[in-house]
Amino acid sequence: MKEIILMICCAALLLACGNKITSKRMPASQRVITENKAQGNITDHPDYNTGIQLVRQSDCFTCHKISEAFVAPSFTEVANKYRSYSDSIVRHLAGRVITGGSGVWGILPMTPHADLSKDDAAAMIRYILLLKQ
Ligand code: HEC
Repeated sequence: MKEIILMICCAALLLACGNKITSKRMPASQRVITENKAQGNITDHPDYNTGIQLVRQSDCFTCHKISEAFVAPSFTEVANKYRSYSDSIVRHLAGRVITGGSGVWGILPMTPHADLSKDDAAAMIRYILLLKQ
């Protein structure tokens, strides 16, 4: 009897997880930008896929949209502001994502992401900076 209950529980859990994955539709606001004026198709860029996956796995899209301003500046706006793809900019912005805070774009603060590694934060930034238009 115990085994049967356990099996039913496992099946229910599997079903729940499966549903979560299939129902995870991407809202229009997160529609992927695949091109920019300077570089053409950016999906071929080695930093693109790694970065977008990490951004999707984290909470970034609760406040940021890719190309429209929302609670926070859009990722395209951020890319347009910094333009550069230099290591120092990547490190600076990765540090800002980890520590959070406000003052650059307005009074609303970004929550800290203290458990994010520097490498993962930098990979996210490299993807964001590709979005400049
Ligand atoms: C709770 C809302 C929120 C979440 C979640 C969030 N951000 Fe932000 N983010 C903001 C706000 C607000 C700003 C503007 C802060 C400012 O004015 O200094 C910002 C600014 C930024 C900037 C620009 C920083 C600068 O110095 O110009 C980057 C890059 C960024 N966020 C990336 C991310 C990434 C990557 C994630 C996910 C790991 C993320 N954000 C999650 C709200 C958020």
